[in-house]
Amino acid sequence: MIYYSIEMLVKAGIKDIMVVTGGNSAGDFLRLLGNGKEFGLKRIHYAYQEGEGGIADALKQARDFTGDDKIVVALGDNIVEKSIRKFVENFEKQKSGAKLILKKVKNPKEYGVAVVKGKKIIKIEEKPEKPKSKLAVIGIYFYSHDVFEIIDKLKPSKRGELEITDVNNEYIKRNDITYEILDGWWLDCGESKDALLKANLYVKKYGANK
Ligand code: G1P
Repeated sequence: MIYYSIEMLVKAGIKDIMVVTGGNSAGDFLRLLGNGKEFGLKRIHYAYQEGEGGIADALKQARDFTGDDKIVVALGDNIVEKSIRKFVENFEKQKSGAKLILKKVKNPKEYGVAVVKGKKIIKIEEKPEKPKSKLAVIGIYFYSHDVFEIIDKLKPSKRGELEITDVNNEYIKRNDITYEILDGWWLDCGESKDALLKANLYVKKYGANK
């Protein structure tokens, strides 16, 4: 599954990649991906997240790696049909802040849900009982390096994690965030065997990162 995330970044022109893993299988990722030769990379950087502190905590591990650059955060269980190159290019032109990619879904309850007004995101609710829209926030996020200062100030959520949705809501508060709508399908396939099966069928039928 992680091959698709890495391929997606490489195809979008991103060559400096850090894989953040955790748990007991971190070594498997290193063995599987090595230096990234299969992707045409010279090397892949690795970091280890201790515990299960959430996506924002995982991102924290990439602080020194990022330095003063901008960063694209790609969840290893998200697969997209089409290339994200145009989002990357648009974000390169963006002076500051963050960019989110949204996709209309049938089951918004399962995701971060964005409420938008015209070109503006008003707020994001994490897995709301009563979603105010059908626009899910997909697991590909674009940040400026100030994201790390935002993470430093986060408090763990009810599920004990540093939530990426809290990071995004802080950018909304600062009025420093843009969004684009994803074209083509998107799958978050880490949750269940059914999701995994669906991902396999989709990739077989349509291909990914086109
Ligand atoms: C995470 C985020 C959620 C986002 C989703 C995309 O959810 O918290 O906002 O919509 O990824 O895949 P998780 O997969 O951690 O439940």
